Amino acid sequence: MGKVIAITSGKGGVGKTTTTASLGAALASMGKKVLLIDGDVGLRNLDIALGLENEAVYDLYDVQTDVVSAGDAIISHELFTSLFLLPAPQTHSPEAIDTAFMQSLCAEQKQNYDYILIDSPAGLGTSFHHAARCADMAIVVITPDLASVRDGEKVLSILNKYRNIASARIVINRYNPELVQLDCMMSIEDLLSLLNERLLAVIPEDLMLLRASNIQNGNLLLKTAASTPAYHNMACRLMGGSVPLMKFTTRKKNFSLLKKLKS
Ligand SMILES: Nc1ncnc2c1ncn2[C@@H]1O[C@H](COP(=O)(O)OP(=O)(O)OP(=O)(O)O)[C@@H](O)[C@H]1O
Ligand SMILES: [Mg+2]
Repeated sequence: MGKVIAITSGKGGVGKTTTTASLGAALASMGKKVLLIDGDVGLRNLDIALGLENEAVYDLYDVQTDVVSAGDAIISHELFTSLFLLPAPQTHSPEAIDTAFMQSLCAEQKQNYDYILIDSPAGLGTSFHHAARCADMAIVVITPDLASVRDGEKVLSILNKYRNIASARIVINRYNPELVQLDCMMSIEDLLSLLNERLLAVIPEDLMLLRASNIQNGNLLLKTAASTPAYHNMACRLMGGSVPLMKFTTRKKNFSLLKKLKS
């Protein structure tokens, strides 16, 4: 029986879609069968992140309205044969999707997949609640800044009210040790003191991920993700492994920049 994981955030643009695609690639590269559901109804972009925008013909709404079966709407990925996508509708609002439909879809697909990851929109709107209702677990993605941490805490407190969600964990994305050294970003130690045991993974700022998404190359994104230790470690932890947090080393201090910042 598979596990449904909702990938959420308070603040927008923190890396939920990138995390969904990358974690999916890491789990698939470790032999798991993974379904990614784009839960960002009306503003989908998981298909682009995966390089599947030309393959995305049918979507959640078509399945809900019996235009096609879920099996016919789900697309497989050429790079990872055990990675699949169910796209979100682009022309319908989040309210067009029923919670009961999402719940029965996830319950049914849990029989076919080891993991179902739902890429949710930022904030606390309808699609967030759809994903939360279906999930066995939630991941809240934050970036290492106070506003994102505070919004993430708010989302966690709401997720805690869902009795179907057994655990809600935090992923810190775009961690940059050089910015920490320049006192421009919170350190892992600072973040740990705020988040403690709820932390699932720390993903570094990665120019290859940024490049892959900006040149719209889904295969590059997935190849990068599958070879990035942080995603591999996160996948291992989800599978029950005990993997310590990565140590982040920094290059020599950039003293001229530091001096400029302090003047
Ligand atoms: N670890 C990372 N390193 C570098 N760039 C990243 C990383 N994670 C995400 N990004 C970049 O951040 C931008 C936003 O990422 P993404 O679209 O995944 O955010 P999101 O939370 O899904 O946004 P939205 O709230 O709009 O759905 C993208 O350009 C992506 O390439
Ligand atoms: Mg997104």
